[in-house]
Amino acid sequence: MESYLVDTLGRQLRDLRISVTDRCNFRCTYCMPREIFGSDFPYLERNQIMSFDEIDRLVSIFVSLGVRKVRLTGGEPLLRRNLHELVSMLALRPVEIAMTTNGVLLPRYAPSLSAAGLDRITVSLDAIDEATFASITDSGHTVAAVMAGIEAAESVGLGPIKINTVVKRNSNEEEILDLVERFSNRDIAIRFIEYMDVGTTNGWSLDEVVSAEEIRDMFNDLQPLIPKNESDVAKRYRLPNGSEIGLITSVTEPFCGNCTRARLSADGRLFTCLFSNKGLDLLTPLRAGNSDQEIASLIKSNWSHREDRYSEIRSESSDAMNRVEMSYIGG
Ligand code: GTP
Ligand code: 5AD
Ligand code: SF4
Ligand code: SF4
Repeated sequence: MESYLVDTLGRQLRDLRISVTDRCNFRCTYCMPREIFGSDFPYLERNQIMSFDEIDRLVSIFVSLGVRKVRLTGGEPLLRRNLHELVSMLALRPVEIAMTTNGVLLPRYAPSLSAAGLDRITVSLDAIDEATFASITDSGHTVAAVMAGIEAAESVGLGPIKINTVVKRNSNEEEILDLVERFSNRDIAIRFIEYMDVGTTNGWSLDEVVSAEEIRDMFNDLQPLIPKNESDVAKRYRLPNGSEIGLITSVTEPFCGNCTRARLSADGRLFTCLFSNKGLDLLTPLRAGNSDQEIASLIKSNWSHREDRYSEIRSESSDAMNRVEMSYIGG
Protein backbone atom coordinates (compact mmCIF):
# COMPACT_ATOMS: atom_id res chain seq x y z
CA MET A 1 0.00 0.00 0.00
CA GLU A 2 1.23 3.45 -0.81
CA SER A 3 2.09 5.59 2.18
CA TYR A 4 1.77 9.33 1.75
CA LEU A 5 4.19 11.93 2.88
CA VAL A 6 2.41 14.53 5.03
CA ASP A 7 3.55 17.82 6.56
CA THR A 8 2.90 19.19 10.07
CA LEU A 9 -0.60 20.29 8.98
CA GLY A 10 -1.49 16.94 7.46
CA ARG A 11 -1.04 18.05 3.84
CA GLN A 12 0.21 15.48 1.34
CA LEU A 13 2.87 16.15 -1.27
CA ARG A 14 0.94 15.66 -4.54
CA ASP A 15 1.93 18.33 -7.06
CA LEU A 16 5.32 19.47 -8.28
CA ARG A 17 5.84 22.72 -10.16
CA ILE A 18 9.17 22.81 -11.96
CA SER A 19 10.75 25.99 -13.28
CA VAL A 20 12.86 25.15 -16.31
CA THR A 21 14.29 28.65 -16.80
CA ASP A 22 14.31 31.95 -14.89
CA ARG A 23 14.21 33.94 -18.14
CA CYS A 24 11.18 35.33 -19.94
CA ASN A 25 10.44 37.10 -23.21
CA PHE A 26 7.85 39.31 -21.45
CA ARG A 27 8.54 42.00 -18.87
CA CYS A 28 5.22 42.06 -17.02
CA THR A 29 5.39 45.05 -14.73
CA TYR A 30 4.22 43.05 -11.70
CA CYS A 31 6.62 40.16 -12.26
CA MET A 32 9.80 41.15 -14.14
CA PRO A 33 9.86 44.96 -14.26
CA ARG A 34 12.25 46.04 -17.00
CA GLU A 35 14.22 48.40 -14.75
CA ILE A 36 15.29 45.46 -12.62
CA PHE A 37 15.26 42.53 -15.04
CA GLY A 38 17.56 44.10 -17.63
CA SER A 39 20.44 42.45 -19.46
CA ASP A 40 22.67 42.93 -16.41
CA PHE A 41 20.31 41.00 -14.11
CA PRO A 42 22.09 37.97 -12.59
CA TYR A 43 20.09 35.23 -14.29
CA LEU A 44 21.13 31.66 -13.59
CA GLU A 45 24.12 30.45 -15.59
CA ARG A 46 23.74 27.45 -17.83
CA ASN A 47 25.75 25.13 -15.52
CA GLN A 48 23.56 26.10 -12.54
CA ILE A 49 20.41 24.94 -14.32
CA MET A 50 19.18 21.37 -14.03
CA SER A 51 19.66 19.24 -17.12
CA PHE A 52 16.69 17.22 -18.42
CA ASP A 53 18.25 14.05 -16.97
CA GLU A 54 18.54 15.72 -13.58
CA ILE A 55 14.94 16.95 -13.70
CA ASP A 56 13.71 13.51 -14.73
CA ARG A 57 15.62 11.85 -11.93
CA LEU A 58 14.20 14.25 -9.35
CA VAL A 59 10.72 13.69 -10.76
CA SER A 60 11.12 9.93 -10.36
CA ILE A 61 12.06 10.48 -6.72
CA PHE A 62 9.12 12.83 -6.17
CA VAL A 63 6.83 10.27 -7.78
CA SER A 64 8.05 7.66 -5.29
CA LEU A 65 6.97 10.12 -2.56
CA GLY A 66 3.45 10.59 -3.92
CA VAL A 67 3.61 13.30 -6.61
CA ARG A 68 1.09 12.71 -9.41
CA LYS A 69 1.00 16.06 -11.18
CA VAL A 70 3.89 17.99 -12.68
CA ARG A 71 3.59 21.52 -14.03
CA LEU A 72 6.41 23.03 -16.07
CA THR A 73 6.84 26.75 -15.51
CA GLY A 74 9.45 29.48 -15.89
CA GLY A 75 10.03 32.39 -16.35
CA GLU A 76 8.75 31.33 -19.73
CA PRO A 77 9.22 27.57 -20.07
CA LEU A 78 9.18 27.65 -23.88
CA LEU A 79 12.46 29.57 -23.86
CA ARG A 80 14.15 26.36 -22.71
CA ARG A 81 15.58 24.68 -25.81
CA ASN A 82 14.21 21.30 -26.84
CA LEU A 83 11.68 21.25 -24.03
CA HIS A 84 9.73 18.52 -25.83
CA GLU A 85 12.61 16.17 -25.01
CA LEU A 86 12.02 16.70 -21.29
CA VAL A 87 8.29 16.18 -21.80
CA SER A 88 8.90 12.90 -23.56
CA MET A 89 11.04 11.70 -20.65
CA LEU A 90 8.46 12.73 -18.04
CA ALA A 91 5.66 11.17 -20.09
CA LEU A 92 7.04 7.75 -19.12
CA ARG A 93 6.34 8.52 -15.45
CA PRO A 94 2.89 8.06 -13.89
CA VAL A 95 2.17 11.80 -13.75
CA GLU A 96 -0.05 14.30 -15.47
CA ILE A 97 2.10 16.90 -17.26
CA ALA A 98 0.89 20.47 -17.59
CA MET A 99 2.55 23.75 -18.44
CA THR A 100 1.98 27.43 -17.70
CA THR A 101 3.15 29.69 -20.54
CA ASN A 102 2.61 33.19 -21.89
CA GLY A 103 1.62 31.52 -25.15
CA VAL A 104 3.50 33.42 -27.85
CA LEU A 105 5.85 30.54 -28.69
CA LEU A 106 3.06 27.96 -28.85
CA PRO A 107 2.52 28.18 -32.62
CA ARG A 108 6.10 26.96 -32.99
CA TYR A 109 6.20 24.38 -30.21
CA ALA A 110 2.68 23.08 -29.50
CA PRO A 111 2.83 20.23 -32.04
CA SER A 112 6.08 18.73 -30.74
CA LEU A 113 5.02 19.19 -27.10
CA SER A 114 1.74 17.47 -27.69
CA ALA A 115 3.41 14.64 -29.59
CA ALA A 116 5.88 14.25 -26.72
CA GLY A 117 3.05 13.72 -24.24
CA LEU A 118 2.20 17.11 -22.72
CA ASP A 119 -1.34 16.80 -21.34
CA ARG A 120 -2.56 20.38 -21.05
CA ILE A 121 -1.57 24.01 -20.90
CA THR A 122 -2.51 27.17 -19.07
CA VAL A 123 -1.91 30.46 -20.85
CA SER A 124 -1.35 33.74 -19.01
CA LEU A 125 -3.30 36.60 -20.59
CA ASP A 126 -4.06 39.80 -18.69
CA ALA A 127 -5.86 41.85 -21.35
CA ILE A 128 -7.66 41.68 -24.69
CA ASP A 129 -7.10 45.31 -25.52
CA GLU A 130 -3.72 45.54 -27.31
CA ALA A 131 -2.67 48.81 -25.67
CA THR A 132 -3.45 47.54 -22.18
CA PHE A 133 -1.69 44.25 -22.92
CA ALA A 134 1.37 46.15 -24.20
CA SER A 135 1.53 48.34 -21.13
CA ILE A 136 1.42 45.32 -18.80
CA THR A 137 3.73 42.97 -20.68
CA ASP A 138 6.15 45.67 -21.92
CA SER A 139 7.78 43.53 -24.55
CA GLY A 140 6.50 44.13 -28.07
CA HIS A 141 4.38 40.98 -28.13
CA THR A 142 0.69 41.16 -28.97
CA VAL A 143 -2.65 39.76 -27.87
CA ALA A 144 -2.97 38.45 -31.42
CA ALA A 145 0.19 36.38 -30.92
CA VAL A 146 -1.13 34.90 -27.67
CA MET A 147 -4.43 34.09 -29.38
CA ALA A 148 -2.55 32.34 -32.16
CA GLY A 149 -0.76 30.33 -29.47
CA ILE A 150 -4.04 29.33 -27.89
CA GLU A 151 -5.42 28.24 -31.28
CA ALA A 152 -2.28 26.26 -32.00
CA ALA A 153 -2.48 24.48 -28.65
CA GLU A 154 -6.17 23.69 -29.12
CA SER A 155 -5.61 22.33 -32.58
CA VAL A 156 -3.11 19.75 -31.34
CA GLY A 157 -5.23 18.62 -28.41
CA LEU A 158 -3.59 20.47 -25.52
CA GLY A 159 -7.01 21.39 -24.10
CA PRO A 160 -9.04 21.99 -22.12
CA ILE A 161 -7.05 25.19 -21.97
CA LYS A 162 -7.11 27.47 -18.97
CA ILE A 163 -6.37 31.18 -19.09
CA ASN A 164 -4.78 32.95 -16.11
CA THR A 165 -5.46 36.66 -15.67
CA VAL A 166 -3.79 38.53 -12.85
CA VAL A 167 -6.09 41.43 -11.98
CA LYS A 168 -4.48 44.63 -10.78
CA ARG A 169 -6.38 47.79 -9.90
CA ASN A 170 -6.17 50.69 -12.37
CA SER A 171 -4.50 48.35 -14.80
CA ASN A 172 -6.85 45.73 -16.21
CA GLU A 173 -10.10 45.49 -14.22
CA GLU A 174 -11.86 46.88 -17.28
CA GLU A 175 -10.71 43.83 -19.22
CA ILE A 176 -12.51 41.26 -17.10
CA LEU A 177 -15.85 41.24 -18.89
CA ASP A 178 -14.22 41.52 -22.32
CA LEU A 179 -11.99 38.53 -21.60
CA VAL A 180 -14.96 36.46 -20.47
CA GLU A 181 -16.88 37.48 -23.55
CA ARG A 182 -14.00 36.59 -25.85
CA PHE A 183 -13.68 33.07 -24.51
CA SER A 184 -17.34 32.27 -23.98
CA ASN A 185 -18.77 29.38 -25.98
CA ARG A 186 -15.35 27.77 -26.14
CA ASP A 187 -14.01 25.01 -23.97
CA ILE A 188 -11.69 27.45 -22.21
CA ALA A 189 -11.94 28.40 -18.54
CA ILE A 190 -10.64 31.80 -17.59
CA ARG A 191 -9.37 32.30 -14.07
CA PHE A 192 -8.90 35.67 -12.41
CA ILE A 193 -6.03 35.77 -9.94
CA GLU A 194 -5.81 38.21 -7.07
CA TYR A 195 -2.60 40.16 -7.41
CA MET A 196 -0.15 38.80 -4.84
CA ASP A 197 2.80 40.15 -2.89
CA VAL A 198 5.27 37.63 -4.28
CA GLY A 199 8.91 38.62 -4.66
CA THR A 200 10.31 42.01 -3.76
CA THR A 201 10.34 43.94 -7.02
CA ASN A 202 6.73 44.70 -7.86
CA GLY A 203 6.02 47.28 -5.14
CA TRP A 204 2.82 45.45 -4.21
CA SER A 205 0.21 47.18 -2.12
CA LEU A 206 -3.12 45.90 -0.88
CA ASP A 207 -4.94 48.80 -2.61
CA GLU A 208 -3.98 47.25 -5.94
CA VAL A 209 -5.67 43.94 -5.21
CA VAL A 210 -9.07 43.56 -6.87
CA SER A 211 -10.78 41.09 -4.58
CA ALA A 212 -12.67 38.04 -5.74
CA GLU A 213 -15.72 39.58 -4.06
CA GLU A 214 -15.47 42.61 -6.35
CA ILE A 215 -15.11 40.35 -9.37
CA ARG A 216 -18.11 38.23 -8.34
CA ASP A 217 -20.13 41.44 -8.12
CA MET A 218 -19.44 42.17 -11.79
CA PHE A 219 -21.52 39.14 -12.79
CA ASN A 220 -25.17 38.20 -12.32
CA ASP A 221 -26.19 34.66 -11.47
CA LEU A 222 -22.85 33.02 -10.87
CA GLN A 223 -23.45 29.37 -10.05
CA PRO A 224 -20.70 27.93 -7.85
CA LEU A 225 -19.39 24.62 -9.18
CA ILE A 226 -18.28 21.69 -7.03
CA PRO A 227 -14.48 21.48 -6.82
CA LYS A 228 -13.07 18.68 -8.96
CA ASN A 229 -10.13 18.27 -6.67
CA GLU A 230 -9.70 19.34 -3.08
CA SER A 231 -6.35 20.97 -3.79
CA ASP A 232 -7.55 23.04 -6.78
CA VAL A 233 -6.55 26.65 -6.35
CA ALA A 234 -9.46 28.15 -8.32
CA LYS A 235 -13.06 28.45 -7.14
CA ARG A 236 -15.12 27.70 -10.23
CA TYR A 237 -18.42 29.27 -11.34
CA ARG A 238 -20.85 28.73 -14.21
CA LEU A 239 -22.19 31.80 -16.02
CA PRO A 240 -25.76 31.88 -17.36
CA ASN A 241 -24.43 31.44 -20.90
CA GLY A 242 -22.81 28.16 -19.85
CA SER A 243 -19.19 29.22 -19.79
CA GLU A 244 -16.98 28.75 -16.76
CA ILE A 245 -14.84 31.20 -14.83
CA GLY A 246 -12.51 30.66 -11.89
CA LEU A 247 -11.36 32.93 -9.10
CA ILE A 248 -8.00 32.42 -7.44
CA THR A 249 -8.41 34.13 -4.10
CA SER A 250 -4.85 33.93 -2.83
CA VAL A 251 -5.09 37.18 -0.89
CA THR A 252 -8.64 37.52 0.42
CA GLU A 253 -9.63 33.86 0.86
CA PRO A 254 -6.38 31.90 1.19
CA PHE A 255 -6.26 28.20 0.49
CA CYS A 256 -3.17 27.04 2.40
CA GLY A 257 -5.18 24.38 4.22
CA ASN A 258 -5.08 22.05 1.25
CA CYS A 259 -1.85 23.15 -0.38
CA THR A 260 -0.22 20.00 -1.69
CA ARG A 261 2.25 21.82 -3.95
CA ALA A 262 6.03 21.82 -3.94
CA ARG A 263 8.13 23.96 -6.27
CA LEU A 264 11.48 23.27 -7.81
CA SER A 265 13.50 26.23 -9.11
CA ALA A 266 15.53 25.86 -12.31
CA ASP A 267 18.67 25.43 -10.20
CA GLY A 268 17.14 22.54 -8.31
CA ARG A 269 16.04 24.08 -5.03
CA LEU A 270 12.90 22.84 -3.36
CA PHE A 271 10.47 25.48 -2.12
CA THR A 272 7.46 24.40 -0.12
CA CYS A 273 5.70 27.76 -0.39
CA LEU A 274 5.37 30.40 -3.09
CA PHE A 275 6.41 32.92 -0.46
CA SER A 276 9.47 31.12 0.87
CA ASN A 277 12.73 32.93 1.13
CA LYS A 278 14.99 29.94 0.91
CA GLY A 279 14.89 26.61 -0.78
CA LEU A 280 16.48 23.25 -0.08
CA ASP A 281 19.27 22.61 -2.56
CA LEU A 282 18.69 19.20 -4.16
CA LEU A 283 20.94 19.65 -7.18
CA THR A 284 24.24 19.82 -5.26
CA PRO A 285 23.70 16.48 -3.49
CA LEU A 286 22.42 14.99 -6.75
CA ARG A 287 25.56 16.09 -8.61
CA ALA A 288 27.72 14.92 -5.71
CA GLY A 289 26.54 11.37 -6.34
CA ASN A 290 23.95 10.84 -3.62
CA SER A 291 21.58 7.95 -4.16
CA ASP A 292 17.86 8.27 -4.87
CA GLN A 293 17.18 7.13 -1.31
CA GLU A 294 19.41 9.84 0.10
CA ILE A 295 17.72 12.54 -1.97
CA ALA A 296 14.32 11.13 -1.03
CA SER A 297 15.27 11.40 2.67
CA LEU A 298 16.16 15.06 2.25
CA ILE A 299 12.77 15.74 0.64
CA LYS A 300 10.89 13.69 3.24
CA SER A 301 12.53 15.47 6.13
CA ASN A 302 11.86 18.86 4.54
CA TRP A 303 8.20 18.14 3.75
CA SER A 304 7.46 16.48 7.08
CA HIS A 305 8.64 19.63 8.91
CA ARG A 306 6.70 21.94 6.59
CA GLU A 307 4.53 24.53 8.34
CA ASP A 308 3.98 27.00 5.46
CA ARG A 309 0.72 28.91 5.28
CA TYR A 310 1.93 32.30 4.26
CA SER A 311 -1.30 33.56 2.67
CA GLU A 312 -3.19 32.84 5.86
CA ILE A 313 -0.76 34.74 8.07
CA ARG A 314 0.37 37.40 5.60
CA SER A 315 0.00 40.27 8.06
CA GLU A 316 2.22 38.65 10.68
CA SER A 317 5.06 37.88 8.31
CA SER A 318 8.20 39.89 8.90
CA ASP A 319 10.63 38.34 6.46
CA ALA A 320 9.17 39.77 3.28
CA MET A 321 12.40 41.34 2.13
CA ASN A 322 14.13 38.16 1.06
CA ARG A 323 11.30 36.44 -0.76
CA VAL A 324 12.19 34.79 -4.05
CA GLU A 325 10.84 36.18 -7.32
CA MET A 326 7.91 34.62 -9.17
CA SER A 327 10.04 34.37 -12.33
CA TYR A 328 12.54 32.23 -10.40
CA ILE A 329 10.09 29.98 -8.60
CA GLY A 330 7.56 29.72 -11.40
CA GLY A 331 4.27 31.00 -9.92
P1 GTP B 1 -4.30 23.08 -12.37
O1 GTP B 1 -5.22 22.99 -11.22
O2 GTP B 1 -3.55 21.84 -12.64
O3 GTP B 1 -4.90 23.61 -13.60
O4 GTP B 1 -3.15 24.06 -12.01
P2 GTP B 1 -3.08 25.34 -11.15
O5 GTP B 1 -4.34 26.10 -11.22
O6 GTP B 1 -2.52 24.97 -9.84
O7 GTP B 1 -1.88 26.09 -11.90
P3 GTP B 1 -1.66 27.53 -12.34
O8 GTP B 1 -0.23 27.71 -12.64
O9 GTP B 1 -2.56 27.85 -13.45
O10 GTP B 1 -2.03 28.34 -11.03
C1 GTP B 1 -2.72 29.48 -11.16
C2 GTP B 1 -2.17 30.57 -10.30
O11 GTP B 1 -2.64 30.41 -8.99
C3 GTP B 1 -0.65 30.59 -10.14
O12 GTP B 1 -0.03 31.19 -11.19
C4 GTP B 1 -0.52 31.41 -8.90
O13 GTP B 1 -0.70 32.76 -9.22
C5 GTP B 1 -1.71 30.90 -8.10
N1 GTP B 1 -1.26 29.80 -7.26
C6 GTP B 1 -1.02 28.51 -7.65
N2 GTP B 1 -0.60 27.78 -6.65
C7 GTP B 1 -0.57 28.62 -5.57
C8 GTP B 1 -0.21 28.43 -4.23
O14 GTP B 1 0.19 27.36 -3.82
N3 GTP B 1 -0.29 29.51 -3.42
C9 GTP B 1 -0.73 30.69 -3.84
N4 GTP B 1 -0.81 31.66 -2.95
N5 GTP B 1 -1.08 30.92 -5.11
C10 GTP B 1 -0.99 29.89 -5.97
N1 5AD C 1 0.28 37.83 -8.36
C1 5AD C 1 -0.52 36.89 -8.91
N2 5AD C 1 -0.16 36.14 -9.97
C2 5AD C 1 1.04 36.37 -10.50
N3 5AD C 1 1.66 35.80 -11.55
C3 5AD C 1 2.88 36.35 -11.66
N4 5AD C 1 3.08 37.29 -10.70
C4 5AD C 1 1.94 37.33 -9.98
C5 5AD C 1 1.50 38.07 -8.86
N5 5AD C 1 2.28 39.01 -8.28
C6 5AD C 1 1.04 34.79 -12.40
C7 5AD C 1 1.30 34.94 -13.87
C8 5AD C 1 1.08 33.55 -14.37
C9 5AD C 1 1.37 32.68 -13.22
C10 5AD C 1 2.51 31.78 -13.40
O1 5AD C 1 1.57 33.55 -12.10
O2 5AD C 1 0.48 35.80 -14.54
O3 5AD C 1 -0.23 33.33 -14.82
FE1 SF4 D 1 4.93 37.83 -17.33
FE2 SF4 D 1 4.83 35.19 -16.79
FE3 SF4 D 1 6.99 36.27 -17.89
FE4 SF4 D 1 6.39 36.83 -15.37
S1 SF4 D 1 6.97 34.84 -16.16
S2 SF4 D 1 7.09 38.29 -16.93
S3 SF4 D 1 4.14 36.88 -15.47
S4 SF4 D 1 4.96 36.18 -18.82
FE1 SF4 E 1 0.66 26.97 -0.39
FE2 SF4 E 1 2.22 28.90 0.53
FE3 SF4 E 1 0.35 29.41 -1.32
FE4 SF4 E 1 -0.36 28.87 1.21
S1 SF4 E 1 0.79 30.64 0.50
S2 SF4 E 1 -1.31 28.05 -0.65
S3 SF4 E 1 1.20 27.35 1.74
S4 SF4 E 1 2.15 28.11 -1.57
